[in-house]
Amino acid sequence: MKSPVRNMFDGIASRYDFLNHFLSCYQDVLWRRYCCKRLKKMVTEDSVTAAGTVSAPGSVTAEGTVPEIETASSSEGTARGMRALRLLDLCGGTGDFANTFRKIFEGGCSSSQKGTDTAQFAPQKGTARGFCVEPAVIGDFSYGMLAEVKPKKIDAYAVQLDAMKMPFAERRFDVILNGFGMRNVPDARGALMESYRVLDAGGYLCVLEFFSPRNLFNKFFYKVLAPLFIPVMGAFFSGKRDAYEYLVNSIIRFLPVDEFCKMAEECGFEVKKVKMFDGGISFGVFLRKPVSAS
Ligand SMILES: C[S@@+](CC[C@H](N)C(=O)[O-])C[C@H]1O[C@@H](n2cnc3c(N)ncnc32)[C@H](O)[C@@H]1O
Repeated sequence: MKSPVRNMFDGIASRYDFLNHFLSCYQDVLWRRYCCKRLKKMVTEDSVTAAGTVSAPGSVTAEGTVPEIETASSSEGTARGMRALRLLDLCGGTGDFANTFRKIFEGGCSSSQKGTDTAQFAPQKGTARGFCVEPAVIGDFSYGMLAEVKPKKIDAYAVQLDAMKMPFAERRFDVILNGFGMRNVPDARGALMESYRVLDAGGYLCVLEFFSPRNLFNKFFYKVLAPLFIPVMGAFFSGKRDAYEYLVNSIIRFLPVDEFCKMAEECGFEVKKVKMFDGGISFGVFLRKPVSAS
């Protein structure tokens, strides 16, 4: 059965990207970019720690051309070399977050590496040292939003799914992105637990979200300014005033960021970093499934 939220996103899909950028004055682009850069730093640092040493770029192992680096989560398939990063953009909508991630990680895997969990490979020219990204999975329950992925020609599979009951095996992904999706699912704890299940040990979940306002500036912004401005603009450009009223209300109804972090810890995650953007208009929360997790 279609939920009202799913209907709503189907209804605004064709104008979603434009309005997202317009209403946030393009800050959403910068926030996604920051999150992906920070993830790259975290994954890179982990790979150095995990492997102990990292070969100098361009160095050649005894086997031939594979640098001796391990990804943080590569408990399998890492005897030598590394595995491609397996990325899920959850509540991924039109795929902007996955697209940014791929650009920040500078490219994908060569065709021989695609779809192989245990591929050993040499990074492509121009690829972040030691990493390539498998074709991403963009998961969302709105078919309308997913239909907007195709024209962007992202190297990704669009999968219609429910964030609280995903059709994936345990430990299927190394990195999960969730941009502005958490507050839309009916049960954020359920979505966190399900993300934990499909994330590999040592893997990251990055939640970029508008959390319920706590300080005076945020309360004024979300309770006074946003309800005046956002539904009017949304109605003007998409004809869907209700959808943009819902978006503002969903922020006020959602958890404050500290309560969300506490919930994530209760689900088993380590909170690695909380980044506040623009005085608390949004936050990037970086969670990690412990390396020791079974
Ligand atoms: C505000 S949009 C965010 C889209 C994109 N991640 C971004 O960064 O712009 C929220 C998305 O969450 C999806 N969503 C909401 N509830 C969901 C659920 N239970 N399962 C899967 N996707 C869901 C919606 O369809 C919508 O595409």
